[in-house]
Amino acid sequence: MYNKFYITTPIFYPNANLHMGHAYTVTICDILSRYKKLLGNETYFLTGSDENTGKILKSVEEKGENVSVYLQNISDNFKELYSQLGISYDQFIRTSDKEKHWPGALALWQKLVEAGDIYKATYKGLYCVGCETFYKEKDLEEGKCPVHGTIPQEIEEENYFFRLSKYTVRLKDKIREDEIKVVPVSRKNEIMALLDRGLEDVSFSRPKKTVPHGIPVPNDPEQVIYVWCDALVNYISALGFGRDDELFKKFWPVDVHVIGKDILRFHSAIWPAMLMSANLSLPKSIFVHGLITSGGVKMSKTLGNVIDPFHLINEYGKDALRYYFAREISPFEDGDLTLEKFKESYNANLANGIGNLTSRIMKMAEDNLSSSAPVSDEGFPEEYIKYLNNFELNRACDFVWNEIGEMDKYIQENKPFKVVKENKEEGIKQIEFLVSKLYFVARLLEPIIPDTAQKIKNLVKENKSPEKPLFLRKD
Ligand code: MSP
Repeated sequence: MYNKFYITTPIFYPNANLHMGHAYTVTICDILSRYKKLLGNETYFLTGSDENTGKILKSVEEKGENVSVYLQNISDNFKELYSQLGISYDQFIRTSDKEKHWPGALALWQKLVEAGDIYKATYKGLYCVGCETFYKEKDLEEGKCPVHGTIPQEIEEENYFFRLSKYTVRLKDKIREDEIKVVPVSRKNEIMALLDRGLEDVSFSRPKKTVPHGIPVPNDPEQVIYVWCDALVNYISALGFGRDDELFKKFWPVDVHVIGKDILRFHSAIWPAMLMSANLSLPKSIFVHGLITSGGVKMSKTLGNVIDPFHLINEYGKDALRYYFAREISPFEDGDLTLEKFKESYNANLANGIGNLTSRIMKMAEDNLSSSAPVSDEGFPEEYIKYLNNFELNRACDFVWNEIGEMDKYIQENKPFKVVKENKEEGIKQIEFLVSKLYFVARLLEPIIPDTAQKIKNLVKENKSPEKPLFLRKD
């Protein structure tokens, strides 16, 4: 049976280089995408950068730099992190791309207009440049943006509005019935509560002078498309919507949008409403992860607790960071990363766990087997599949490390290295059993720590012990 799997990350603001939270999002998408590919799906993995924002322009102008050179450098830096993390994305979309993104954004806008869902009105409100969103007085905390802690700008301007309110009831039905499955349930409840309070129409454009690099509204060059409306369309413009429908027909609707909890409203209310208005299919699921903290608080320069993903990759290797994200961060809640915790988990589960086990088994195999042990490339355990289908990456890892623990126990109890000296046939049987199990574990590790999994598979096939430990212990 033909199965496709389309997965997306949010597109990131290029106001600075990517940080640990972004590295986390792309890594979990990569793990899910590799997993689906391993199961035989045709996968498409989209990521990119959200470039048409007033915020960027401001920061670039302050530095006196050229906007397009600046954006190019930043997206190169994003891609460098992806490469160092082993991210197997299919496309990196940039919303400043007039060839790939703009036709889709304009085509969708046109559909909203045709549906009668766009109207012009004067807007008076409070705007947070950090969030690129309007706030109501009641949403502020002591007059400040609840996310950035800054005082929003008071704005009065002519905008085009999108009739979001019209879609409240339909959205509620779709989310309640899991036609758009919002995972975990706590986030589904959160969005249902928001829908219960009712949605108001949203401003969908800004005057051109505030965002000169934005996409001009068709037939009104004085207005540009509001950055969130523009950004959300990336999920279909990248597939060729509005220019060349081939990928769009093949991969839309998306199987999963992976997002952080701070952008839930945009993805589970505004975006599906836009799709409904344009009469397009809706996302099948939205996986909402928590935020990464360090020592229980947000990483920040002021607190001095920022850990750079490049630093950890340099010091420990990409698989170590991928492992930490998958196993040690709960996918549905905020998760913590400190240098101490990272080292402790690395030593216990990578250096001592899978690393040490591979050395022990492959040393016995190299010394005693005349050729590589028989292995199987068939099938995956039900439990592993169930966890990964539910985005429970940590539980999938627990399952694999439980297998690793079982193998350690088997060696301790049976002592095959002794048995093989006394009863060669029985000893070889035990060693072959361990090698085939190690190969099985390597297959399960493929989406999570692909380089290590490949190394183990190669060692098994060549019947060799590793020349140096897979993961050097750190003191
Ligand atoms: N540009 C918008 C998204 C548009 S998608 C159509 C945006 N960009 S962002 O760069 O600010 O954030 C992108 C993603 O990174 C969000 O999902 C956000 O939740 C995630 N993270 C930002 N900080 C994070 C952590 N500390 N931890 C985990 N994820 C974090 O929003």
